[in-house]
Amino acid sequence: MKREIITTADGSKTIHIPEWDEQYHSKHGAIQEAYHVFIEMGLFYFLKNKQPKFFKILEIGFGTGLNAFITLIEAEKFKPEIDYTGVEAYPIAEEEIEKLNYTTELNTSEELFKKLHSCIWEVSSKISESFTLTKRKQFFSEIEDKNVYHLIYFDAFGARVQPKLWTEEIFQKMHDALKTGGVLVTYSAKGSVRRAMQAVGFTVERLPGPPGKREMLRATKY
Ligand SMILES: C[S@@+](CC[C@H](N)C(=O)[O-])C[C@H]1O[C@@H](n2cnc3c(N)ncnc32)[C@H](O)[C@@H]1O
Repeated sequence: MKREIITTADGSKTIHIPEWDEQYHSKHGAIQEAYHVFIEMGLFYFLKNKQPKFFKILEIGFGTGLNAFITLIEAEKFKPEIDYTGVEAYPIAEEEIEKLNYTTELNTSEELFKKLHSCIWEVSSKISESFTLTKRKQFFSEIEDKNVYHLIYFDAFGARVQPKLWTEEIFQKMHDALKTGGVLVTYSAKGSVRRAMQAVGFTVERLPGPPGKREMLRATKY
């Protein structure tokens, strides 16, 4: 499928899929959305409530690496040791990576962003003092981890274009993959998504969404 780089409202770039009229991030601001949904409501919530020294994050849809990158930047400040796994079936190309402007927009290290993309797939690579990354080239339906992760960033394309990724079947896999007390965050606030999460045992909260979106969801495995 054809992909093109576009600029979102906060100046940061994302990838647009014309055939689906779908983006990797919100048109209202890629960096703003990623910080709100995954860092504020996920990472910071988890650090504040659980205060772990070491924890494991699973990302559903590694894509441009933006979520991994901002997690790495925050990990450098707070120094919890993060073991991050990004699952992605369709890795982006070198020329697409070069067109992303996250290091300029965040005024931060280009070397670290490049390292996220250049490290080899399927093995664990130490990216910085407190951040280790494993990129897995895999379909979400093939995920079989059990009781491994503390936090999941659920960042699949929307249910409008990929409804099969927002079903009980997938959320059962997410529930299985989390440890007890583990948390999943996503930008979606759809009623059908919330009900699919509840059906597999999650306790779900509706939270204020990022710019351009009224709500988002956070699900906890008790
Ligand atoms: C919304 S984008 C993810 C954006 C990403 N988190 C980022 O920060 O750039 C969804 C991602 O899921 C990937 N994807 C789509 N269908 C998939 C599937 N069935 N299994 C695995 N990856 C899939 C896409 O290639 C895309 O990178």
